[in-house]
Amino acid sequence: MSKTKGLNVGIVGYGFMGRTHSNAWLQAPRYFNLAYRPVLKAVSARNVDRVRAFAENWGYQSVESDWRALIARSDIDLIDIASPNDTHAEIAIAAALAGKMVMCEKPLGRTAEEARAMVDAVESAHVPNMVWYNYRRVPAVVLLKKLLDEDRFGRIFHYRSQFLQDWTISEDLPQGGEGLWRLDSSVAGSGVTGDLLAHNIDMALWLNGPITEVSAMTETFVKERKHNLTGEVEPVKIDDASAFLCRFANGSMALFEATRYARGHKALFTLEINGERASAAWDLHDLHRLQYFDYRDEGQLRGWKDIHITDGGHPYMKNWWVPGLQIGYEHTFIHQVADFVLALDGGPTAAPTFRDGLATELVTDAVLHSAKSKKWESIPTA
Ligand SMILES: NC(=O)c1ccc[n+]([C@@H]2O[C@H](COP(=O)([O-])OP(=O)(O)OC[C@H]3O[C@@H](n4cnc5c(N)ncnc54)[C@H](O)[C@@H]3O)[C@@H](O)[C@H]2O)c1
Repeated sequence: MSKTKGLNVGIVGYGFMGRTHSNAWLQAPRYFNLAYRPVLKAVSARNVDRVRAFAENWGYQSVESDWRALIARSDIDLIDIASPNDTHAEIAIAAALAGKMVMCEKPLGRTAEEARAMVDAVESAHVPNMVWYNYRRVPAVVLLKKLLDEDRFGRIFHYRSQFLQDWTISEDLPQGGEGLWRLDSSVAGSGVTGDLLAHNIDMALWLNGPITEVSAMTETFVKERKHNLTGEVEPVKIDDASAFLCRFANGSMALFEATRYARGHKALFTLEINGERASAAWDLHDLHRLQYFDYRDEGQLRGWKDIHITDGGHPYMKNWWVPGLQIGYEHTFIHQVADFVLALDGGPTAAPTFRDGLATELVTDAVLHSAKSKKWESIPTA
């Protein structure tokens, strides 16, 4: 298939996600047969020297110091939002109004209200849209989804999922500004609920269906921190840790937990699902493995299988190396670009769409409300 049709990408933000996305746009057409060839047309961020250096490193053709100029350009087809959470809604809505396709980092908005306005904008403009919940595209997780869809598990009883980190334990860590905007609620929206649990929830909604009600608790362990932008010691308004119980529409019950205070853990995203006939477990530190137990196995050989997800028959793996050789974190973003571009060429709609992103935010909002009200909160439909 010729790759002559260009897909001109304009990205906002050159930080952590700016790098993962740029790599994905470059690599996807090299490993997947795509009808459109992504072109790194322009990158936008406020610091012109740094954005120029970023553009040079990744091969962007041009730079803009204001995202509005990026959106105003007629030579950009798609706006890729890789900037902090407080920028998502304004940029995505403006991009949709200008008729651009939009890919937006998670969480979609700081609140479900912001996310809903973003859904309205992309759906009214009929522009392709997607949220970068990249962990849906870990091959082991996609295999788990396939096993669930094949009804190998029977009735689902339990789902449990955690996201554990330890990088904000020090009381001396400031809040706000570069690198630390996640601790400033006006920028981040919430703490670990929107930053970490959103990943767990997106994956759970995809694998196990809708959540109907939640009961949550949150904690802010360090109550005041110096703010990098004001220089003042200010109250910390984000949740440092968040845990909730919930029920799914399929009758299963679940436990979720996220924290940045689990000493020794860096990005321990785990999940386990227990069904009538089978169970499975996965964690991000060993992302190329799926643990699977099938009760229908012959009794004397029944036990947990540790499946190494590197075979050509495993999801996405035929596009990579030879069996036995694993892939990693960056590939999840490459898979996401590949699926998005394949959908533009008549493939299945690439999820999670903005509406799927809103479904996650309705849960995260309910978690934060429940932690305050100390009551069960039901989840509206997206
Ligand atoms: N999918 C994932 O696994 C994942 C992982 C990390 C971050 N994220 C999300 O990605 C987004 C960015 O996070 P990050 O870790 O890359 O942050 P970062 O701090 O590393 O980078 C943010 C970038 O945005 C730029 N920026 C800030 N304000 C801007 C503005 N007004 N206009 C233009 N550019 C602006 C900064 O200059 C910087 O280049 C966040 O929404 C975050 O939640 C997602």
